[in-house]
Amino acid sequence: MGSGRDVAVFGAYGHTGRFVVAELRERGYVPLLLGRDQDKLLELAQAQPGLEARQASVDDPASLDRALNGAVAVINCAGPFATTAAPLVEAALRAGIPYVDVAAEIEANVDTFAHFAERARAAGTVVVPAMAFYGGLGDLLVTTAMGDWTAADEAHIAYGLSSWHPTTGTLASGVVSGQRRSGRRVRYTGGRLEYHDDALPTLEWSFPAPLGPQSVIGEFTMADVVTVPSHLAIPEVRTYMTAKAAADLSAATSAPTAVDERGRSAQTFAVDVLVRSGGTERRAVATGQDIYAISAPLAVEAVDRILTGRTKTTGVASAGAVFDAPGFLRALSSHLSLHVPLDTRG
Ligand SMILES: NC(=O)c1ccc[n+]([C@@H]2O[C@H](COP(=O)([O-])OP(=O)(O)OC[C@H]3O[C@@H](n4cnc5c(N)ncnc54)[C@H](OP(=O)(O)O)[C@@H]3O)[C@@H](O)[C@H]2O)c1
Repeated sequence: MGSGRDVAVFGAYGHTGRFVVAELRERGYVPLLLGRDQDKLLELAQAQPGLEARQASVDDPASLDRALNGAVAVINCAGPFATTAAPLVEAALRAGIPYVDVAAEIEANVDTFAHFAERARAAGTVVVPAMAFYGGLGDLLVTTAMGDWTAADEAHIAYGLSSWHPTTGTLASGVVSGQRRSGRRVRYTGGRLEYHDDALPTLEWSFPAPLGPQSVIGEFTMADVVTVPSHLAIPEVRTYMTAKAAADLSAATSAPTAVDERGRSAQTFAVDVLVRSGGTERRAVATGQDIYAISAPLAVEAVDRILTGRTKTTGVASAGAVFDAPGFLRALSSHLSLHVPLDTRG
């Protein structure tokens, strides 16, 4: 029997998994350390006395069932999620527990909605894909900016990253996603995903101070094009990335290095969201430090809300659909600065 506070973390020894383990401990949960590599698990368990490590493989459903035994929820931090998401969702459904992942892979996120929506709803459980910086935070901000609107003409999500030192997992997920779309690009327009070979536009985006105007790559399409339209009637959803960070990612610059006691890197971010309906624009902005580190409070806050019944729906649902978005963002005030101005034009 578990403690009733045991939350399984698959991929616990990865860069993001370690932040999630630390955040769970801070919030009074007991992380179960799950992963495929026994040596890496034991090394992590030695550094985290008192925590249990359980080896499990996505190719072996029985090992996943054993690993989830006694857990009240599972957070999947092991990417590429094209490989790990479906087996872990299946295992969570067998165990009758909620599933949360940090996947930033558009096609894998689409698959989670497509393959598990009915079964998760029938089971009365919650499956939340992309509950992280990409996909999750943008969706919470769009939902917050929408306010009482249920539909809008356009949503724009601009990522103002000071730099981007990608992890091995990020790069591997990018390769898998690229292969899945045969090297083509993807955007969300006319109410659907569209694959194309057009060059990506470079334009200027005016972030709020202190970032100010920045050169950004347009149609730098992130998981928000899956999460936002999953519950909001917005036919045009566009994401943008500061050109400097996009160049860092292409160059696969070195992995993030810790600069503070929490293990965060020096990277800063602003996520600037604009929704437009007719002539009216609404905006919501969040700023903070380290896109990997912030994914941990996002995923753990999600689990905490699910376990305490603070949800709006069951089945497969994105952050904005399943949670009270403004309340969720306010709960992260020690990690995020939030600014939601009034309508900017009416
Ligand atoms: N949505 C977002 O904003 C967001 C934020 C953070 C991370 N992510 C995503 O999360 C994933 C992990 O990122 P990271 O920064 O933690 O990378 P990382 O440090 O390289 O860790 C990757 C983890 O995934 C595990 N893994 C990979 N393939 C696996 C498989 N087939 N079976 C079991 N475990 C497997 C690795 O285990 P081994 O060492 O044994 O290979 C490792 O624990 C990436 O896909 C990344 O894009 C998304």
